[in-house]
Order: sequence, then structure tokens, then C-alpha cells
Amino acid sequence: MLIDPSKFHRIQRLPPYVFKEVDELKMAARRRGEDIIDMGMGNPDLGTPQHIVDKLLEAAGKAKNHRYSVSRGIIKLRVAMANWYERRYGVQLDPETEICATMGAKEGLAHLSMAVLAPGDVVFVPTPNYPIHAYSVVLSDADLRTIPLGDGGDEFIERLERAVKTIWPRPKMLVLNFPHNPTAKVTDLAFFEKAVAFCRENGIILVHDLAYADICFDGYKAPSIMQIPGAKDIAVEFYSLSKSYNMAGWRVGFCVGNPKLVNALIRIKSYLDYGMFQPIQIASIIALDSPDSVTQEISAIYQARRDKLVSGLAKAGWNIDTPKGTMFAWAKIPEPFDKLGSLGFAKHLLKEARVAVSPGTGFGHDGEGYVRFALVENEHRIGQATAGIREMFRCDVK
Ligand SMILES: Cc1ncc(COP(=O)(O)O)c(C=O)c1O
Repeated sequence: MLIDPSKFHRIQRLPPYVFKEVDELKMAARRRGEDIIDMGMGNPDLGTPQHIVDKLLEAAGKAKNHRYSVSRGIIKLRVAMANWYERRYGVQLDPETEICATMGAKEGLAHLSMAVLAPGDVVFVPTPNYPIHAYSVVLSDADLRTIPLGDGGDEFIERLERAVKTIWPRPKMLVLNFPHNPTAKVTDLAFFEKAVAFCRENGIILVHDLAYADICFDGYKAPSIMQIPGAKDIAVEFYSLSKSYNMAGWRVGFCVGNPKLVNALIRIKSYLDYGMFQPIQIASIIALDSPDSVTQEISAIYQARRDKLVSGLAKAGWNIDTPKGTMFAWAKIPEPFDKLGSLGFAKHLLKEARVAVSPGTGFGHDGEGYVRFALVENEHRIGQATAGIREMFRCDVK
């Protein structure tokens, strides 16, 4: 064999994609003409607000915006991000040294890991997790140590404290994400205070993913790690326009906080890219400068869908926790289906109820026993989904 993929070291370290199996079944069912209600991937179904699209179109019409842009983002975009943090959290960030624009949070997370980790560096990542949190570590040849998220509060902090005493070499980085994908757990400033204190005491880099900053329900407001005094000494935070403004396909995110970490990301990116297409950056300024009502309207749609899902599942006899944020619901597989495992149950839901969900095991070992619903279908379709599930339960239990 002239080219032997089994020698592609990094690719070999990536396990088969668990979601692929459900995806393939979904595509096959659709080819047979079946109507599948797709609550699998967290891919927003609604369009970007019109004023942002209009700005993109206007900027795209200008030849000066067709050139290579600035890898770390044009200054006005970084200033818009700084203003957003000031307005939202009362946090001051220097747009020159403490903010780097990224092509989505995912790209930034992966390249930050590549910039600061070396083979053998230990990184703590909660499990279950959004896959890039773990695989940015794996792709950097660093040493991934997963810590069960548990209640996501004091229990998790205690686990970190126990692990730091026993694991050698000592961890270099901790990755957190609240509101959390996939469990939809949310947090508060008291937890962030403990997490920052833990990382400062142990000299650990803290990376926080705030991708669901704006998707919060029932009056809950997601805190920023940057609100904690001293966080900037050890932490960076990722923010994304994907969910807040329905801009997932535009690929716009940010890394903010500790200037040394931000600079490492800026430096590695300056070798890898020439920045986002400038009209996207210009339109993103308009997004960040929008009144809060823009993100509140988007969040309200997810909240209504959440209500429809939680009440519909309850009618089917499946009681799940009501999420306070994110665009997901994390559902423990009810008996007697739990013996199917999360992948088996997801396939069963697809076949019998025509509903696609993500199997929990796709988010790591601790995701087993759960499936994740993404709120990316409208209320009517969610009603159909829960009716299908009710019917499936009725037939299976007979
Ligand atoms: C926790 C979390 N972080 C990051 C992302 C991806 O963000 P982006 O589109 O900015 O890369 C997602 C998308 O689902 C996510 O759930």
C-alpha cells in the first residue's frame, strides 16, 4: 500500500463518530420518504436576523472587503466584543490584547489547545462533554483526563480537588462549559469563584466555553467566568455568535481574557488563516451592537420549544429535567428501554417514533444512559415528535 491511513497518527486517535450511525439511518429513512423529526444535531433552524444579513449584503458589495482580512479580527469587531462584555457583565477587556476573533468557538478551542499544549500535558475535561472539548486535547497529543460532571457544582469541584492530588503530571488545563452541552446544566458565580480559586491555587489554565450565553430561560442569566476577580490571570472564555444570533453557518466566535493565552491563539492563527471574510466581520459588529431584544426573542423561541418538549414527554410518561438554558434537553432513558443503551435507544426512537436524537455516548462514557434532544424543530413538530414517542411507548409496553 503506497498510502496507509493506519499510519495517520492523529486520525487514528479519533474514534468512530457515534452520531454517524443515527445520521445514516435518518438519511436512509428520508430516502424511503419517511418524515423524520430531526432533534439530533444542535444546528439552529431559524435564520439570522434581517438587519445582520442586510449589513452582510451591503459589505459584500464593496471590493475593499474582498481582500485578505486580519486573522485576529478587525479592530472594530474586537471593540464591539469588548463593549458587549462591558454592557452585559461590567467586565472590561482590552480589544488589543485580550480579544481574538475566531472562526467559531470550535476552531478557537482547537487552536488554543494546539498553541499551548504539548505531548503529555494533562487536561481535565468534564464528562459528558461537547466533543471538541475532549478532542482538541487528543488532537494536540496531550493527555485527556475526564472528570465526571456529576451535579456540576460542589460535587464536581470536590472531584477536581481529589484528582489534582493524585494525578501526575499535575494538570495544565481545565475546560468548563456552562450552560452545558449536552446536559443543559447551568451554573452561578459561586461555582465560578471556586473554579477560579482551584485553578489559581494549582497553576491551571482555565478555559470556559460560554457558547450559550444568551440561550437562557425563566429569567436565568448565565454568568461569565470573567466576572470573577483574578480570573483574567489564568482564564480565557469563548463566546460564539452561532446560537445567540442564529449565525451557526457564519462561523464567528471569540476568545477573550488572559493576554498571554489570547496572544498564543493570535500567534498560531496568524500562521493558519487570514481572518474571516471581512463582510462577515462587519455584519457581526452589527449583531453584537444589537439591542438585547434580538437575542431575547431567539431565546424565547427555544424556551417555548422546551416547554412543548418537556410537557409532551411528560404526557408520554417520560419525565425529564426542565433545562434552564442551551438549546438541548438531556433525557435519562426510561425503563425498560435503558437496557438498549443510548445508541440502541436512539435507533429505536428513529425507527419507531421517527424522531432523531443524539445518543448520550457520543458525548463520552458518562453520557451512556441518556439521549439529547436539540430544540431545532418548531413547536408543532415537537408536538408530533412527543406524540410519536407516546405511541411507541404504548406499543412497546403492550
Ligand atoms: C458548548 C459548545 N461550544 C461550541 C460550539 C460551537 O460553536 P461555534 O459554532 O461557535 O464553533 C457548540 C455548538 O454546538 C457548543 O455546543
